[in-house]
Amino acid sequence: MTPYCRSLLDQTVATYLSRGVRNLEEVQAALERRLAPLVLEQAGDGVILAIASLAEDRVIGEVSLWLRDVDPRTFEVGFAVLSDVQGRGYAREAVRALLTVTFDHLAAHEVIGIADRRNVASASFMHRLGMRARPGAEETSQRVLFAIDGHGWQTEDHSGRVTTHTQGSKD
Ligand SMILES: CC(C)(COP(=O)(O)OP(=O)(O)OC[C@H]1O[C@@H](n2cnc3c(N)ncnc32)[C@H](O)[C@@H]1OP(=O)(O)O)[C@@H](O)C(=O)NCCC(=O)NCCS
Repeated sequence: MTPYCRSLLDQTVATYLSRGVRNLEEVQAALERRLAPLVLEQAGDGVILAIASLAEDRVIGEVSLWLRDVDPRTFEVGFAVLSDVQGRGYAREAVRALLTVTFDHLAAHEVIGIADRRNVASASFMHRLGMRARPGAEETSQRVLFAIDGHGWQTEDHSGRVTTHTQGSKD
């Protein structure tokens, strides 16, 4: 079993993921879903992409993108990297690239991310990407919704610092 497949069973990485920890059969089904054709036309369509380290020649995580609403076009982003490579900027590089494609080529109005309130790493990660907590139907006592729209994305320098904005500090 590859390190990536093992990661789908990994308690540490899955702690705050909605799917929870998987058994072997669920990992098999999850891998088959990742091989499905890329379609982003109707609400519920999604794609899961691997994050690969060329230096280490292995898959180290994944990002996902789901079309939540067609009008206005709203996407949900998901992300996870293996415990042993967290904190090296791989997740930020991958999600930044995904958000660039989503706003520039998929006509996104807004991209959201949903984090468990205890998931400090995820909340901080999204904040550094320019996403901000806001109320929404997906928000519960356990989950917080982060969002960024096209204008917010264009005004980010994508290192977490805002380059041009008019209404006070975003950080
Ligand atoms: C969230 C996650 C993808 C971040 O991955 P990562 O490799 O640490 O992220 P990066 O190295 O790209 O870090 C980018 C930023 O994330 C934030 N961050 C990452 N880990 C953090 C932590 N433990 N505490 C606080 N902030 C953290 C920091 O703001 C960091 O910016 P900085 O380096 O300028 O301080 C990773 O923790 C993970 O895979 N967690 C398990 C899966 C998960 O919970 N996914 C999110 C579901 S909503």
